[in-house]
Amino acid sequence: MLNQLETLAKTARTELTQLGTGDALDAWHGQYIGRKGELTQMLRRVGELPREERPVFGQRANQLRQELEAAYEQKTQTVKAAEMEQTLAKDALDVTLPGRPVSQGRLHPSTHTLRRIYQIWADMGFQIFRSRDVETDEMNFQLLNFPPHHPAREMQDTFYTTNPDVLLRTHTSPGQIRVMRERYPESIRVILPGMCYRHEQITARSEIQFYQVEGLAVGPGIRFSDLKGTLINFTNRLYGEGRPVRFRASHFPFTEPSAEMDVQCFLCDGQGCRICKYVGWLEILGCGMVHPNVLRNGGYDPTKYSGFAFGMGPERVTMLRHGIEDIRYFWGNDLRFLEQF
Ligand code: DAH
Repeated sequence: MLNQLETLAKTARTELTQLGTGDALDAWHGQYIGRKGELTQMLRRVGELPREERPVFGQRANQLRQELEAAYEQKTQTVKAAEMEQTLAKDALDVTLPGRPVSQGRLHPSTHTLRRIYQIWADMGFQIFRSRDVETDEMNFQLLNFPPHHPAREMQDTFYTTNPDVLLRTHTSPGQIRVMRERYPESIRVILPGMCYRHEQITARSEIQFYQVEGLAVGPGIRFSDLKGTLINFTNRLYGEGRPVRFRASHFPFTEPSAEMDVQCFLCDGQGCRICKYVGWLEILGCGMVHPNVLRNGGYDPTKYSGFAFGMGPERVTMLRHGIEDIRYFWGNDLRFLEQF
């Protein structure tokens, strides 16, 4: 049995030298010197030997076991170190390589302008009121004092849904009715920004979708001078302090009286140029005192309340500021355009 023991130890030692992975080493350990290993088993069979041979056998077996255990430890360390080398080599980073450029997103020019406009109105105490894009004919036209066959409807070619009473809003003005009905009897100071849609020929000057920013103030005793003062304050901040403005009489069904506001062309200082079409003025918004019928439709008694409203196109503001000559760039998704901002 002692011979058997020596042979076993020799085989184990030879095998050990040929192993190259941690897994193989574990298996080897189990096979020979683990709890159920062959050498361990032999050691247990010491009782089968004649009494006088037992100490020698036991000693030798323990000695061999310790030797193999030590050899195993040493081999494990070598293999682990080699494995580590390998992983390091495989996952090596070349820290001297130049980085890949991060391409940064940016705000759409319309978003820029909208945020500037929101800020100015916020400073004057106007909240943002979000109204819906899909409207009823009633809200978009009738309650704003456009009777069914009013010619002004023709100026706003409409996208209808399969239900002729449901349409895409042609302007943000229907939001006026919605905000009044929601806020009555409080005083109102809001702006209503949003997308509008018109079924028109797309040209350099007109798109089928575009933003508007509507404004509405309702309360007791609001006068036309409040409208003028507020809008002049706004244009001073948007176009620069002291830039001359003028109001021209106009017509909208939902305001009376109505006006359009012009600002002196800031490209030629009123001298006349291509952008202002040689008139020296740029038209920037429509406005007026809320029509009594509209106040009534919103739930406000026109004998006790009055209000002013205005509507402007932020794309036009952006075009003027940056000298953009074609409105189709805004929704063309051409990066060569968008990356300039
Ligand atoms: N809704 C008008 C349009 O789409 C713009 C407008 C004009 C809005 C005068 C107003 C206003 O609130 O008072 O052309």
